[in-house]
Amino acid sequence: MREEIKIISPEELAVQQAFAQKVLLHPERPKTYYIVTYGCQMNAHDSEKLAGMLQNMGMTPAADRREADFVLHNTCCIRDNAERKALGNVTWLKEIKKERPHMLIGVCGCMIQQKVMAEKLLSQYPFIDVAFGTGNLYRLPEYLYEAITTHERIIRVDPNASTLVENLPVCRDHPLKSYITVMYGCNNFCSYCIVPYVRGRERSRAADDIVREAESLVASGAKEIMLLGQNVNSYGTDNENGISFAKLLHRVSQTGIERIRFMTSHPKDLSDELIDEMAHNSVIAPHLHLPVQAGNNRILEAMNRRYTREHYLEKVRKLRAAMPHLGLTTDLIVAFPGETEEEFLDTVSLVEEVRYDSAYTFIYSPRTGTRAAEMPGRIDPEVASNRIERLIAVQERITGEILESMTGQVVLALIEGTSRRRDWQLTGKTERNININFSGSEADIGKIIPVRVTGHGSNTLRGQKEED
Ligand code: 5AD
Ligand code: SF4
Repeated sequence: MREEIKIISPEELAVQQAFAQKVLLHPERPKTYYIVTYGCQMNAHDSEKLAGMLQNMGMTPAADRREADFVLHNTCCIRDNAERKALGNVTWLKEIKKERPHMLIGVCGCMIQQKVMAEKLLSQYPFIDVAFGTGNLYRLPEYLYEAITTHERIIRVDPNASTLVENLPVCRDHPLKSYITVMYGCNNFCSYCIVPYVRGRERSRAADDIVREAESLVASGAKEIMLLGQNVNSYGTDNENGISFAKLLHRVSQTGIERIRFMTSHPKDLSDELIDEMAHNSVIAPHLHLPVQAGNNRILEAMNRRYTREHYLEKVRKLRAAMPHLGLTTDLIVAFPGETEEEFLDTVSLVEEVRYDSAYTFIYSPRTGTRAAEMPGRIDPEVASNRIERLIAVQERITGEILESMTGQVVLALIEGTSRRRDWQLTGKTERNININFSGSEADIGKIIPVRVTGHGSNTLRGQKEED
């Protein structure tokens, strides 16, 4: 299925701005909002845009969703449990709405983008007031205006998720660390994955727009930028005038930002040019999230990943040769349809061989509409749980060994704030993206400073500020 990419014009955005004004002036408009976000960084950043639009309509954030006039759930559908969690929370809110009938309940994002889900919501969740998908997120002002003025349910899902919008208002959650989306969508169609269906085709933002956004973030005090995309390594390839991701990184690194990260890289598209740029550019953090998913070639092929175990390990070898202190992290799926015990053990042995700093581990979850959902050989849930437990145990041991080996080293940490558990403790992130806690003064918040590692917990480091 070839979806057309739709670039939203300034005129279309002006129409939305006019709706925002009408909402702002409407006596029955919601005064406060609460956004509940599920899923990945991409969704977290979409929620920052939703918040930007809501504030533009005169709304202020509520401290608790029970007190908000408009509660918007920005959903994820990557695995079954993500969907169940969102639907559970929406159902819970139904009871609150009984006490506060003027409360508007909204649901948007990836889950709604699926046709079956939009239909299910319509029939089984009549208390949802507003619902829209990923492609028409920018039309929130219009939908809210319709909901307020008609008192009817507004369910709007455009089957084409491939829209590209510039200049939406953004209300950023974190003053120091900011997200910039560099590309939307995915063309890879890994056989287990729903993302290409709910996020549409790959479309890259213009490099100039990205650099301008980075410059304005630097001017407002950002220290770290994370460039986001489902597959950043194919940035620019959908556009005749596009530049490569390595060149984009280079340009962003010259804006005065102190640190850059990016997510997510597909191993098949990881270029030598990118490795070289990372190795020679001190603004780019020496951390790479490189999802491998599985360590067995038959499974990788069935997943449509388009690399072999050997190709992947060769990329890791090149990366480590260029950057001996690179921190690697990954995503792993166990119990893909038909996965045998031996095939699972290939994943374990790959994890042992690569020695990731950490890994996100998942049990395969069938997604309606994907190719893998039709494959025979569903794995018994008990076997699946047992496999993931064994895999986690191996990764935890490796994480512990890596953290232990850092004891005594001096790391550069961006100090993000005080620890949630002890307020005298500062918390930061090392270049390799590992959390580090140490006692220190709040004056260091927002700075990148050297910290000597003195110990570690299961996945965090402890340290002491290195005096100069
Ligand atoms: N089941 C389990 N894990 C999945 N992921 C994507 N789709 C599925 C699925 N159907 C995982 C992959 C991906 C991460 C974001 O989520 O590991 O890299
Ligand atoms: Fe999903 Fe594969 Fe695209 Fe990642 S690369 S979003 S796993 S289809």
